Amino acid sequence: MTTSTKIKPAWAGEDLLSRLVNLLIQTKPIYSVMQSQARRVLIKTAENNGIPWRENYQELERSSAKELLDTITNPDLVYPDYYQVPFHAYDAGNLCWQAAFEAASATYSMGLRVWKDQQLTWQEAQQKLRHSFYQVLEQYTPATMGKILDLGCSVGISTLTLHRYFSQKQNTSIDTVGLDLSPYMLAVAQTTDTQQEITQWLHGLGESTGLADNSLDLVTLQFVIHELPRQATAKIFQEVLRILKPGGVIGIVDNNPASPVILSLPPVLFTLMKSTEPWSDDYYTFDVEAAIQEAGFNYQTTVASDPRHRTIIGIKT
Ligand SMILES: C[S@@+](CC[C@H](N)C(=O)[O-])C[C@H]1O[C@@H](n2cnc3c(N)ncnc32)[C@H](O)[C@@H]1O
Repeated sequence: MTTSTKIKPAWAGEDLLSRLVNLLIQTKPIYSVMQSQARRVLIKTAENNGIPWRENYQELERSSAKELLDTITNPDLVYPDYYQVPFHAYDAGNLCWQAAFEAASATYSMGLRVWKDQQLTWQEAQQKLRHSFYQVLEQYTPATMGKILDLGCSVGISTLTLHRYFSQKQNTSIDTVGLDLSPYMLAVAQTTDTQQEITQWLHGLGESTGLADNSLDLVTLQFVIHELPRQATAKIFQEVLRILKPGGVIGIVDNNPASPVILSLPPVLFTLMKSTEPWSDDYYTFDVEAAIQEAGFNYQTTVASDPRHRTIIGIKT
């Protein structure tokens, strides 16, 4: 299914409403209020739904995560400018312990927001979120996969779940790599991976992973590209094409600009959302399917895999 007429929310891009919201966000005192407001909403939603936000934080603080930072960090890595900006109401973006220690709770909270009207526990919502993506993905992945990469793995929730799902499906443990630009996130991922199921937690740049040509059966980008300017996404697509084997699959899941829920977000919510996601406008006005094809993939499909998100699939021929 190709979408020729792209739908996007009026609060993104160049529309008057969008420019108004951006003006608000760019006004420093207003922005500071929004940042703390966004944070409060997030924590409150989480704790009201049984996600032990503060306990999760304290547990990680007591763990050995901080000791892993030096060994995980690739000292030669240069952070792109687009990455060194505030994200998710953290001034240091993804490059701090606070972001890393709260990422799992925020991820569970995000899952709950997808099915707000259903009485799901956060565990059920998280499984539903991941499985709705895999159910599309598995229609395109090779029957037997040797090596897979979760690009932009954050604290590893997406990586471990993906690894377990497909390893179980093919009855062998797949060689799985989680790559991220934040060594803080990776330190938490490694701490959480207590059974060492993941082959490598790799501190790297999606645009230039250092992984070998034609070496992977599947690369996923789960909730990553809405955090990127379009040029970075396009470069990552080229890199993914290089590292995938012929027949290998790129699977993307992210916010769906055409989702009725996203299109009709109440003003308070979309303003809060835009204030914590610096590349929103770029993402919502970017033709991802065209970019996949321009990179050289055989574009397969775009599916509204859940009420808020879309799954996009391409294959390397
Ligand atoms: C929202 S998180 C992804 C969440 C995770 N994949 C999941 O589904 O739970 C986005 C991640 O992308 C990472 N990231 C952003 N730009 C990147 C890049 N150019 N290369 C590698 N990782 C990147 C960030 O550090 C962050 O951890």
